[in-house]
Amino acid sequence: SKRVPLIVGNWKTNKKVAEVYDFLQEIKGQLPDPKQVQVGIAAQDIYLHEMVKRSQELDIPVDVFAENIHWADEGSYTGETSPAALADINVSGSIIGHYERRKMFKETNGSVGLKVTASLRNGLVPVVAIAEDTTRYNPDDEDMAPLTEIAVGLAGVDKAKAENIVIAYEPAWAIGASEAPSLEVIEHAGRVIRNSLAILFTQEVADKIRIQYGGSVTPENSKEILGLEDIDGLLIGRASLEPAAFLSMVKDAI
Ligand code: G3H
Repeated sequence: SKRVPLIVGNWKTNKKVAEVYDFLQEIKGQLPDPKQVQVGIAAQDIYLHEMVKRSQELDIPVDVFAENIHWADEGSYTGETSPAALADINVSGSIIGHYERRKMFKETNGSVGLKVTASLRNGLVPVVAIAEDTTRYNPDDEDMAPLTEIAVGLAGVDKAKAENIVIAYEPAWAIGASEAPSLEVIEHAGRVIRNSLAILFTQEVADKIRIQYGGSVTPENSKEILGLEDIDGLLIGRASLEPAAFLSMVKDAI
């Protein structure tokens, strides 16, 4: 593909600090050239600064991601994390609008839009998660539910910077589930998402935006999912927690 694949492990609210350091030690010397495959790990904020420092010291080509950010660079927002502060410690980007945040923490397409703009303003890569609930999924319908999230969530985004956005297609019903959707469903979603990005921005920009798939990705299904036309990477939850499984899925992107 003309796009460099992006594999991101989303550790969510898992791992104690010693496990974080062990993981970095175990992937040391094992990752591909970042020009070939870009690799990221999203972790709890408390670990990010040290993860950046250790991966630099150990020469591990891994990008460190936050799992959420605030939309303001500074101010009185108790308990939030500033995107400018994350950029300052060399964090590479953040997941924005993960389904778990939309469902449990009341994130909306409005807050997603503000956070995408805040990411681009600070040079952070926004991995915008597009969920989809089973009641609205219809593979014959080109007007899929995720399109609303894309259109509303990205409407105010600076078109000149839009190519730096990453979209993660994560159907709600496949997150933490026992299996991923069929390849046909994922392929169709990728195509529909890219078409909608072309309408929102331009075809040229849409062709540069990476679209990830997320939801019950494992070393067993990663290679065939990565082989799909419009899928340029993976957002991996549970299977990213263990170094050997994570490395195996990264290698499938080469
Ligand atoms: O961000 C990752 C997704 O929520 C998928 O989680 O791979 O454990 O199903 P999972």
